[in-house]
Amino acid sequence: MPKLKNIPKVFRPREKLMEKGPDNLSKVELLANLLGSGIKGKNVKEVAEQIIKRYNQDFLELTVDKLTEISGIGNAKASQIISAIALIKRFYKEQNLPYLLKDGIQYSLFDLYETESSKYYPPTIKNHKVYFSHNKRNIPGIFQMQNRRFLGNKYKLLGFIEDIVNEKCNGFESFCDIFSGTGVVGERFNEKDIKIISNDILFSNYYPLKTFLGTTQLDINALKNKIDLLNNLTPNQDNYFSENYGNTFFSLENARKIGVIRNIIDNIADNECEKAALITSLIYATDKVANTVGHYDAYRKKLDSVQPIKLLIPKIDLESNHNNQIYQKDANLLIREIYCDVLYVDPPYNSRQYCDAYHLLENLATWKKPKVFGKAKKMDRTNLKSEYCLKTATKAFRDLITNANCKHILISYNNTGESKHGRSNARIKDKEIIEILKSKGKVEIFERDYKAFTTGKSNTTGHTERVFYCKTK
Ligand SMILES: C[S@@+](CC[C@H](N)C(=O)[O-])C[C@H]1O[C@@H](n2cnc3c(N)ncnc32)[C@H](O)[C@@H]1O
Repeated sequence: MPKLKNIPKVFRPREKLMEKGPDNLSKVELLANLLGSGIKGKNVKEVAEQIIKRYNQDFLELTVDKLTEISGIGNAKASQIISAIALIKRFYKEQNLPYLLKDGIQYSLFDLYETESSKYYPPTIKNHKVYFSHNKRNIPGIFQMQNRRFLGNKYKLLGFIEDIVNEKCNGFESFCDIFSGTGVVGERFNEKDIKIISNDILFSNYYPLKTFLGTTQLDINALKNKIDLLNNLTPNQDNYFSENYGNTFFSLENARKIGVIRNIIDNIADNECEKAALITSLIYATDKVANTVGHYDAYRKKLDSVQPIKLLIPKIDLESNHNNQIYQKDANLLIREIYCDVLYVDPPYNSRQYCDAYHLLENLATWKKPKVFGKAKKMDRTNLKSEYCLKTATKAFRDLITNANCKHILISYNNTGESKHGRSNARIKDKEIIEILKSKGKVEIFERDYKAFTTGKSNTTGHTERVFYCKTK
């Protein structure tokens, strides 16, 4: 029988959809179906390929103007595509559903607008080790520091920050990430010969920081056995956690299991490092099954996050951690106690308090079982409120910088500008940041263009990612 070679595949996306369902079509095929036939004598497949190639990253921000720049696309076809995009966005918005970005991280519309990190910037020069490949980040059974939803995290801006550090802070031996959040910025520079100082006011951030950057005395095999034991628990009774968060933020089964696991951790952990690692594993697993859009200000109406919770093993680079220091302190107190070559400052920039957004994880981490209030079941957070979200932000920032004992300072601060939503407005003005830094040394500003998410219209923001750099006198 002759070999059937080089027979071109027939491009029949409509038939393919009828036969196999939409999930089996490529983006080009789906788009070709939207375009239909008859696009001014052009080949539909080629036109669809061209659109995907050019706008793969920014597809949701496409406009009629952008589309009609492509040969073969007129106003009619462009409106068809824009309407489809707008329709899907509308449904997502109405149901408060998260967008699933291509890397699997979930963002709500609010998060996409708020987060500084919806673009990935690879560094131009890689001097520091790369901990993860952008495309292959999920290793089965294991989780990494960045596998977490966190407002304002700088994971996708690490390349930008690393470029500035490489250019400006040659030969540094210590790096302090004083508002660590997830801790990914400190982790990027974590090497055997570099001391990382990591700090966050919240325990739900401190335990992961301790686990990934601080834990040097950890028996990974013992940890694995304990995680197995916790995964195999099958509680059928209510507890503090399920009574407060079951059937809302979590399925009742998951809420019962989370509560029982947290109760047991304090009894089975052999030391503080192990306790931190077990709590970290629980926090990351809890976040994966939470019925939220990524923070805990509210739960989603429809409880469909029902997959059973599973704790995984943290991926820790014990060797690099030996001289690191991890703190859970107010940054303004800690700054008076430490020296570092490089100080990285990434405070909250508007009135949205992190203790409000992550109250539930904080409650789980501290496990004092306080009374909780309101629809979102928040505990009393009076002692956790950050000065950086209040009118006193500039004063706190001035105090921090004045007391910094370091050679280089890098500040990340958002510039979303003035909006009608007062809560989103930056607390400290650019001119104040510059004036305060100038008292310490020479100031430079590094910028990267950043397109904030907009619901349809393009060019509505001149949003840039900035890092203020100061070489201290
Ligand atoms: C913008 S986030 C940091 C994000 C981080 N760079 C990342 O990539 O994940 C700000 C962090 O500062 C913490 N924070 C707020 N006020 C603080 C204070 N006074 N002292 C220490 N940490 C504080 C918050 O809990 C939050 O995690």
